Amino acid sequence: EPAKPVSRGAFIVVEGLDRAGKSTQVKKLCDRLYAEGHNVKAIGFPDRTSPIGKMISSYLKCQTEMDDHAIHLLFTTNRWEKAQWVKDQIAHGYTLICDRYYYSGIVYSAAKRLPSLSLAWARQPEVGLPRPDRVMFLDLDPEAAVKRGGYGDEKYEKREMQERVRALFLGLLGRGGEESSDLFVVDAGVGVEDVAGSIWGEVGKVVNAVEGGKWLELGS
Ligand code: TMP
Ligand code: MG
Repeated sequence: EPAKPVSRGAFIVVEGLDRAGKSTQVKKLCDRLYAEGHNVKAIGFPDRTSPIGKMISSYLKCQTEMDDHAIHLLFTTNRWEKAQWVKDQIAHGYTLICDRYYYSGIVYSAAKRLPSLSLAWARQPEVGLPRPDRVMFLDLDPEAAVKRGGYGDEKYEKREMQERVRALFLGLLGRGGEESSDLFVVDAGVGVEDVAGSIWGEVGKVVNAVEGGKWLELGS
């Protein structure tokens, strides 16, 4: 079936803690959108393929040490280096499903609790990046994440860090402003198909509204 003509694609982000099931859900969402005739591409951050992405990957694998502000800015730069591509894809009618974005960016860095690295400080270099049409936050109790087989060996995959990240994500909801209106919370502690169903209930509506020309401007 040929893809339907659209005014622009939608920009959807999937966020959550490590082990929340983001990769599985991104794949299922893309498959469903594709099956329904949408032009869709999956992307994700950090994009470990670029030179900056390789530096980030090395940091996450604990192979190199870096100042916390410096690594924060590398994560941000890794988004900026793809920003024009993101805008172009959407303008050409591709709906993008993105595994993590600046919501992870600000929350993971602020979870380090450095006096000189507040949520507001972390947000600043992200200002101006393409703003998504909707951000699905897959909410999972870190206790449940541990029961799912636990964390790997990467830098932030520690129980205490994950608890602080979750509290900060949920805190964004109560802060007002862009982040709180972008985020849509999904209970990720249930079965894979139920999570997929909840995500579809929201994303299906948003994608059809955007592609149908009802939400003209991509935020930024
Ligand atoms: P991943 O597990 O989705 O590949 O992400 C790698 C880790 O990097 C994960 O623990 C979340 C963290 N992260 C940040 O700290 N800042 C960011 O901007 C992004 C995108 C991820
Ligand atoms: Mg991970």
